[in-house]
Amino acid sequence: MSAGPSYLSRLFITLASLPLFKSRLWRWWYNLLARHDKAAELLFMNYGYAEEQDGGFVLQPADMPYRYSIQLYRHVLEGVEVEGKDVAEVGSGRGGGASWLARYLKPHHVTAIDLSPEAIAFCNAHYHLQQLSFRQGSADALPLPAGSQDVILNVESSHCYPDMAAFIAEVRRVLRPGGVLAFCDLRAVTESDALIRLFRGSGLVLEVNRDISAYVLRALERMSDERKQAISQRVPSWLHAALEDFVALKGTVLYEGLRSGDIVYMSCLLRKPGQKPERQEE
Ligand SMILES: C[S@@+](CC[C@H](N)C(=O)[O-])C[C@H]1O[C@@H](n2cnc3c(N)ncnc32)[C@H](O)[C@@H]1O
Repeated sequence: MSAGPSYLSRLFITLASLPLFKSRLWRWWYNLLARHDKAAELLFMNYGYAEEQDGGFVLQPADMPYRYSIQLYRHVLEGVEVEGKDVAEVGSGRGGGASWLARYLKPHHVTAIDLSPEAIAFCNAHYHLQQLSFRQGSADALPLPAGSQDVILNVESSHCYPDMAAFIAEVRRVLRPGGVLAFCDLRAVTESDALIRLFRGSGLVLEVNRDISAYVLRALERMSDERKQAISQRVPSWLHAALEDFVALKGTVLYEGLRSGDIVYMSCLLRKPGQKPERQEE
């Protein structure tokens, strides 16, 4: 049973519902988390994805601690052609997903974009791959030319955006004809229909719309003990309850909301209509 959100979480939820505060508040929160990551181990910030049997998925030993978070990226890109393509990730956080994609899926280039200058500075210092670059920018004004990307990836970031319609308009501008938005995030079930309506009215074609809550819940269950221990060892005690809410440990409001169906974890693929142009020779 949930004991209800902590005082700090309730304050956060109230302020985050106000568009004026939304971006600033999330930025403050992610910076706070980053400050407690002295060993640079916090490379992902998503709830993960787990099949009943996790098999046939090979990772290098250094990536194994992040396997559930990586599996969420792998899931959302299922059926998306990435090899040789230009990919932009919007809301790339600490860069773990963009780095995995750049190292394992052979894209032409990955541009990873995040609102937080601190996150971008961390990523620029931490990752050194020719086919991967990081840029500070906002989802509603992407720092990319029109028609420059084959794939836009958006993993568990959009709930922070004050204007989702502006993000989708930017996706449409930046994608090449035939390009794809690979999206996943959670929403209150009361908001999920409105998001699907926004997608359907966006001029992009909604090709896949899945509820993956069960897979995310399974990952949360498997990571719960490990995350609880990490929180108790690494952050000051005044932050414990809020952080436990945030990472959705078993019994927290978010975890129970996913279990009851009040919160849904959505996974969607949208395609920009039109012919895929052949890549120009460089
Ligand atoms: C939950 S984290 C997910 C990070 C990453 N996708 C992952 O799975 O590890 C959400 C990220 O979205 C970023 N973000 C929030 N609002 C944004 C905006 N308006 N534009 C771009 N990024 C944003 C935050 O700074 C944060 O790094």
